[in-house]
Amino acid sequence: MNRFLKQLSLDKPIIQAPMAGGITTTEMVKASMDGGILGSLASGYLAPDTLEEQIRSVSNHSERHFQVNVFVPGGQKVPKDEDVESWKERVPGSQHAGNFMTIEEQWDDFYRKIDLILHYKVNVCSFTFGLPPVKIVQQLKEEGCLLMGTASTVNEAVLMEKRGMDMVCMQGSEAGGHRGGFLEENGDSSIGLIALIPQTVDAIDIPVIAAGGITDYRGLNAALALGAEGVQVGTPFLLCKESGAHPVHKQRIIEANGAETRVTSLFTGKKARGIVNKWMMENEGYERSVLPYPHQHVLTKPMRQEAAQADAPARMSLWAGQGIGSLGKETTVKEVIAKFDGTEGVV
Ligand SMILES: Cc1cc2nc3c(=O)[nH]c(=O)nc-3n(C[C@H](O)[C@H](O)[C@H](O)COP(=O)(O)O)c2cc1C
Repeated sequence: MNRFLKQLSLDKPIIQAPMAGGITTTEMVKASMDGGILGSLASGYLAPDTLEEQIRSVSNHSERHFQVNVFVPGGQKVPKDEDVESWKERVPGSQHAGNFMTIEEQWDDFYRKIDLILHYKVNVCSFTFGLPPVKIVQQLKEEGCLLMGTASTVNEAVLMEKRGMDMVCMQGSEAGGHRGGFLEENGDSSIGLIALIPQTVDAIDIPVIAAGGITDYRGLNAALALGAEGVQVGTPFLLCKESGAHPVHKQRIIEANGAETRVTSLFTGKKARGIVNKWMMENEGYERSVLPYPHQHVLTKPMRQEAAQADAPARMSLWAGQGIGSLGKETTVKEVIAKFDGTEGVV
């Protein structure tokens, strides 16, 4: 039994990925816990009160472990007014956009969520988009909470280990949704798992979890063979009945193949992988001039909401990983977990 399985008392070395934006539901997390894997609440765009309700609901369901994922605020870049104005002209519905959250407000939101994690003694806390502050790491560890950082390069993984993480989720370039990395590297920091995992396990001593394009036991076996101790799986769970994903989002995943996704910053200002649609194609030439997160995210939100109400995939963010070609129909959490049977010999 590897360190990851032992630390978390799991039946299988699998994490149901946190998926912010209403995709991860408490039903999804509960079914994951029932299935013997680590369920994850995604606090990303949630108000702290809603997160509290979700933590209570999941804690009351089972004694098994689950994690809460939080976004680490960062990148204090403030865009120029003229850049904001030109994006307002380009984005349909941007006149209905809300206020931009200041960096202070983002940190306030972060600390309120950490307080909840401490208060409810959540077993695992994971961080995306950056290194958590030292003081928070100490506080969580004193309460016995296990910590997991997200990284997409070896340099980031090394920093995560130094900061005191108990494990690190390595996100390969195959992964759906936002890139969780945070360092500016000289070259292309989108590295496939087959190259990323061995380099990382050679560089750090904490357990490495592989994320990106993994849909069944073959991907899990490959990740374990490369030296990972577990996998984090997102897109296959998005396609479950327990997921809160929009039906059109699910339908596009069912129809599309692995060559139909790409990484874009056009929706939020942060790089994320999703199925190519009309909005991405029309604005391809503006990728380099997007506003930093959360500004781009705030400006495109009304457009995305209106598109969702109209069942129009052309302007929705259809986040998905490169494994979509092997996902044929809406399914259940139980069925997704069953697809990972056949790993006993390797673990
Ligand atoms: C719709 C969607 C939302 C996501 N939201 C989050 C999030 O809130 N926090 C996080 O750490 N990762 C998030 N991710 C990334 C996953 O943790 C994971 O890296 C990714 O899903 C793995 O690739 P796969 O989708 O091919 O399985 C999201 C992924 C998707 C598809």
